[in-house]
Amino acid sequence: MKICVLPGDGIGPEIMAQAVRVLEALRTDGLAFEIEEAKIGGCAVDADGVPLPESTLALARAADAVLLGAVGGPQWDALPREQRPERGLLGIRKALNLFGNLRPAILYPELANASSLKPELVAGLDIMIVRELTGDIYFGQPRGIESRDGERVGFNTMIYSESEIRRIGKVAFDIARKRNRKLCSVDKMNVLECTQLWRDVMIELSADYPDVELSHMLVDNAAMQLVKNPKQFDVVVTGNMFGDILSDEAAMLTGSIGMLPSASLDENNKGMYEPSHGSAPDIAGKGLANPLATILSVAMMLRYTFNQEAAAVRIEKAVKKVLADGLRTGDIYEPGTRKVGTIDMGDAVVAAL
Ligand code: NAI
Ligand code: MG
Repeated sequence: MKICVLPGDGIGPEIMAQAVRVLEALRTDGLAFEIEEAKIGGCAVDADGVPLPESTLALARAADAVLLGAVGGPQWDALPREQRPERGLLGIRKALNLFGNLRPAILYPELANASSLKPELVAGLDIMIVRELTGDIYFGQPRGIESRDGERVGFNTMIYSESEIRRIGKVAFDIARKRNRKLCSVDKMNVLECTQLWRDVMIELSADYPDVELSHMLVDNAAMQLVKNPKQFDVVVTGNMFGDILSDEAAMLTGSIGMLPSASLDENNKGMYEPSHGSAPDIAGKGLANPLATILSVAMMLRYTFNQEAAAVRIEKAVKKVLADGLRTGDIYEPGTRKVGTIDMGDAVVAAL
């Protein structure tokens, strides 16, 4: 297994160090992998003048999986758009054709009080949102702001091809098959033709997955149902824009940004794995960041790119154990638990493994 590690900026290097320790702990168990590290984001701008150097992209292309920390920070905010750290992230996603974004929203029982919803509504919550990441209105042409009839008009194009819908649908059906065989496809077919096609293709695809129960929901209702009765969902599949919004909504049901991993996959299950949070400049360099989202991203990497389900489950169980033992970083701390820093949390996960 070839893994390209990109720690990035802010808390990135701190949380990545703990994630790599967890990987190393599995090496002694017989997992064989090579790790190569490179720069992306602001640190790459400082060193090479660009957020995604050619050498970084070459390493990422040569690897089977990329593990990323986070990029960005106030010291790079004044740079022109092309040089900003976030450009590195968009660039690598596009270059690697990572169209399948998996965003789990899991509520750990020990963190039930962190949710914005009543504990009984979210206890045991475990949703997987599958978001298409390289198409839709975010990339469609034509787009722009122009002058028409003496006033400015702004416009974008919502567009999906059949093949783009089918490939993300397959990712979602395959995941549903590995979970509880329930898939909800979210669209807005009552007003948007593009999403009528989305629904049609999902229905066609379902013929290949007779064992998975496919349902459909309009996006406005889905937004409502997510806060009304989130546990009705298991796997949700949707387009780029609806997925952007719904995955953030679902993440907040778990209340803890420092706990949520993510995966972005290409057609061959090569993937980039990263925490859902950013570089947290407010706590960077202080040893306070929660490394669990990045450690759980390692588990997703082992599951989805390397098919190492047992190793993935071991990491997830180790994380549950440290939470059950009462260890908490600041972002998930509550009275009666033990507040620890980034390194102590990494130590505890490695010990639990
Ligand atoms: P953020 O996610 O970095 O931070 C939001 C809040 O959550 C902060 O108070 C932070 O301290 C806290 N937080 C985040 N991760 C944490 C962790 N692991 N442990 C404990 N607390 C944690 O989002 P924000 O502040 O909007 O963005 C900061 C920078 O990160 C910006 O430059 C932004 O562009 C960048 N960013 C990068 C992303 C990425 O690399 N994928 C995603 C989102 C933002
Ligand atoms: Mg978003």
